[in-house]
Amino acid sequence: MKIYRSALLRFAPDGSPLYDSDGLLATAPDAQGQERVVAAGSWQALQAQYTQQAGAQVQHLPGRLIAPGFVDMHIHYPQTDVIGAPADGLLPWLEHYTFPHEARFHDRAYADGVAEFFLDELLRNGVTTALTFATSHPNSVDAIMTAAQQRGMRMIAGKVLQDRHSPDGVRDDTEQGLIDTETLIQRWHGVDRLGYAITPRFAPTSTPAQLRGAGELAARYRDVWIQSHVSENLDEIRWVRELFPAARSYLGVYDDFGLMRERAVYAHCIWLDDEDRALLREKHTAAAISPTSNLFLSSGYFDYQKADAADFRYGLASDVGGGMSFSPFRTMQAAYVVGREGHAKQGFSLKPGALWWQHTAGAAQALGLGGVIGNLQPGCEADFVVLNPACTPLLARKTAQAETLDELLFAMIVLGDDRLIEQTIVSQAK
Ligand code: GUN
Ligand code: ZN
Repeated sequence: MKIYRSALLRFAPDGSPLYDSDGLLATAPDAQGQERVVAAGSWQALQAQYTQQAGAQVQHLPGRLIAPGFVDMHIHYPQTDVIGAPADGLLPWLEHYTFPHEARFHDRAYADGVAEFFLDELLRNGVTTALTFATSHPNSVDAIMTAAQQRGMRMIAGKVLQDRHSPDGVRDDTEQGLIDTETLIQRWHGVDRLGYAITPRFAPTSTPAQLRGAGELAARYRDVWIQSHVSENLDEIRWVRELFPAARSYLGVYDDFGLMRERAVYAHCIWLDDEDRALLREKHTAAAISPTSNLFLSSGYFDYQKADAADFRYGLASDVGGGMSFSPFRTMQAAYVVGREGHAKQGFSLKPGALWWQHTAGAAQALGLGGVIGNLQPGCEADFVVLNPACTPLLARKTAQAETLDELLFAMIVLGDDRLIEQTIVSQAK
């Protein structure tokens, strides 16, 4: 058994943060060799029971904070090198930068190199699980799955389906794309900690036939994820209306093809109406909120108050390469700013514990992985970060002055980046 003594952050079932300034985290392998949390709480209350056990190894981490590994609900590993490509908006950005870059992933060796860099960058930023797009090339999925398996990470990925309105080099064939999807599900889903996501890029780049086939696969493989984009940009929405005139709304297109269910995750969800929001709730479908991407591409502002009123699931995401940073601290900071925005919608202040929850336990719950990752309660897989709140002179000064948990968490959300992450520990399946 491994025992860590440091400050400890975790979350109650209602999402409120639980904090021990002198905490104990005990982890041990289960029968399958998966390291899991055995106990978490105050050192005083738990140390007598756990430190006396045979083989207990205690690591004392003074001045450090242990917190759940971050969960990124929407990212594109092949866009690692597209970060910071300027464009007038989503559609020109896809055409000029993203599609030409993604065409390179037909080359397995190239995909391997990017996949390895990408996963190391996630870990360096404290992200232990991500739901990621690959490209339309099946071997781009093999690349990311192989690299994640080597690192023992819980990763979910899928081959992009895009059989129209896409240039040569990234466009797939309607039927072949679906056959490849099923082959990849069988090859990777449920292997070690890996999961597969059926991945239509977005409604404009798949024919109705391909969307129908994706929905059929989603019905046949119920515990496989679904990921796509919805209601990100006004030009995109106009285009969807022309292409699918019979649909009630953009989100309605996905519903019409059986692509809304538990474990379906739609990135952005900015320009929804109340019926769309009610549909997300009814179908147990989640929104991935990507504030740094929405600011970079000038897409719009997610409406937290309407989301909470409709009570659908959501969590935070970087959306690299539309997103500007791999760091969950940058994403939480941007989410706070977007919450404050008071011109396009009503502004309010998201609480630091709620922001942190959206990138850990809340994101895990939205993915259908509540109680598995994103938290440090007994039974959770032991994916966690060791933070050094004194990693820069200003953070050292601010966090030392914090009198409440909110003040401590806010100092890190506003001032933090990859320097806060001293260690990222992944619960390797043996
Ligand atoms: N919509 C369709 N494809 C993409 C993509 O790669 N990034 C973003 N942000 N939106 C999309
Ligand atoms: Zn995206």
